[in-house]
Amino acid sequence: MNHGIDATRMFAGQFIQSVDLKVSSPTKEAIHTQMLKAWVFPPMLSLAEAQVALFQMGIKVGAQNVHFEEKGAFTGEISVPMIKDLHIYLTLVGHSERRQYFGETNLTALKRADSHLKQGCKVVYCIGESKDERLADRTNEILKQQLDEGLNQEMGEALEDQRLVLAYEPVWAIGTGLTASPAQAEDAHHFIRQYIENRYGKKSSMKAVILYGGSVTTENFKALLECPNVDGGLVGGASLNPDSYAKLLEIAGSALRQS
Ligand code: PGA
Repeated sequence: MNHGIDATRMFAGQFIQSVDLKVSSPTKEAIHTQMLKAWVFPPMLSLAEAQVALFQMGIKVGAQNVHFEEKGAFTGEISVPMIKDLHIYLTLVGHSERRQYFGETNLTALKRADSHLKQGCKVVYCIGESKDERLADRTNEILKQQLDEGLNQEMGEALEDQRLVLAYEPVWAIGTGLTASPAQAEDAHHFIRQYIENRYGKKSSMKAVILYGGSVTTENFKALLECPNVDGGLVGGASLNPDSYAKLLEIAGSALRQS
């Protein structure tokens, strides 16, 4: 719930300047050719503004919360056909804040992801353990449960062709300033990739994209991206500032060139 329409317009204006100053030509080129995928998920009211302002830079816009039904009496909800009217084909599913405050469960996240994929969207699907679960050494058990209950058999193909992207977001790290260490992130990402291999096979696991989210900053992003199983970031706070978002893109661009 950051950046309404005016703030999004200002963000985009400053971001274009920051990109000019802070993002190298190879990174800009990589964003344009989609070698480096740069996405933003503004609030629903700001989708159109963000789409218009960021389109020319190659930045794709996605929606934070989209219903699984295509239409009907679901007061307050928006649907895939509605975001498609804005030429938006990207959704976020299962974010811990949706789980914590708005009743999202593994089952509703599954229904959303399944329906969005079938309607032709790309989906970024979040999972992650709480602080108590980590302290009780239940991280892998919780991740397994979220994946067992939250993905279906058909999703192996979507993972393989990267229409379904997973984001590991330890709940204790989101918005808290407590980032998972690269070793903690790598352990969880490795577990998730192994899970994909066991359930869907080697090809899906090798091609699957797994993002890390939780207090990513311009200081820690590089080290996180160096982890073999971390393919990118899902960034909250540090993406709200146009300068810092531009720097994050440059860090991702140089990591891509070194890989
Ligand atoms: P954060 O948020 O980067 O501010 O921790 C991450 C998220 O909300 O997904």
